[in-house]
Amino acid sequence: MKPYYQEDGITIYHGDVRNIQPRCDVVVTDPPYNVGMAYSDHDDRMDERKYLQWLRDIFSHACGDWSRALVWFWQGIRVFNGEARACLPEGFEIHHAAAWFKREFAGDLFKGAHPGFAWEPIIWAARGKPEYHGPRGGHDARDCLVEDRSSRHDKGALEHPCPKPQRTVTRVLSWVSSDTDTILDPFCGSGTTLVAAKNLGRMAIGIDVSERYCEIAARRCSQGVLAL
Ligand SMILES: C[S@@+](CC[C@H](N)C(=O)[O-])C[C@H]1O[C@@H](n2cnc3c(N)ncnc32)[C@H](O)[C@@H]1O
Repeated sequence: MKPYYQEDGITIYHGDVRNIQPRCDVVVTDPPYNVGMAYSDHDDRMDERKYLQWLRDIFSHACGDWSRALVWFWQGIRVFNGEARACLPEGFEIHHAAAWFKREFAGDLFKGAHPGFAWEPIIWAARGKPEYHGPRGGHDARDCLVEDRSSRHDKGALEHPCPKPQRTVTRVLSWVSSDTDTILDPFCGSGTTLVAAKNLGRMAIGIDVSERYCEIAARRCSQGVLAL
């Protein structure tokens, strides 16, 4: 399949990830949460059972036989309800969960019966022993990633309904991948994972079903390396 964009070790494919299967070392992603987000080309209000099966199928497809790790952002409540385990591809185990502390709404809709979540887990699953490439000491080696609004997004990312903060994603990539790894984001949206990979000098592949989001991602990737 012809890439939508390719430059400096970063490749973007436009299409449904189920029809595209590039090889990678590590999958790092931020899937649709099935909470009714207004994506341009994806129904984010699927039947829950179908949604979990869909996600498991996509995770298995994206990891193939080759990826050693699968790391994804998700709603906290899903993790505590055992749904993270239900989405794991064959042979993967969950080894760690970091916290992205975002200070306000964090994907779990506030329904009035409990406080709203202000953080999201970042689930780290691996086939075999996980490889940690991050710092071994000091504040940067800690797994609670705190962001404030001002540090979160560049302007291009805001054309997507729910971009992740680039600094947070960059930290996650530096934990789970080495210089020689290729990272795959099968739900790349505005391309945050790809920009983070580029900043770290890693190769990365992104896929999105929306051509509009691929265009945003390509525009962001074609810009220079940003200061963290
Ligand atoms: C939560 S968003 C990712 C946002 C991204 N982390 C960012 O920072 O911009 C999930 C993305 O998955 C894409 N998507 C949904 N179904 C897909 C599919 N079957 N194949 C590829 N992409 C899909 C949506 O278009 C959406 O952009």
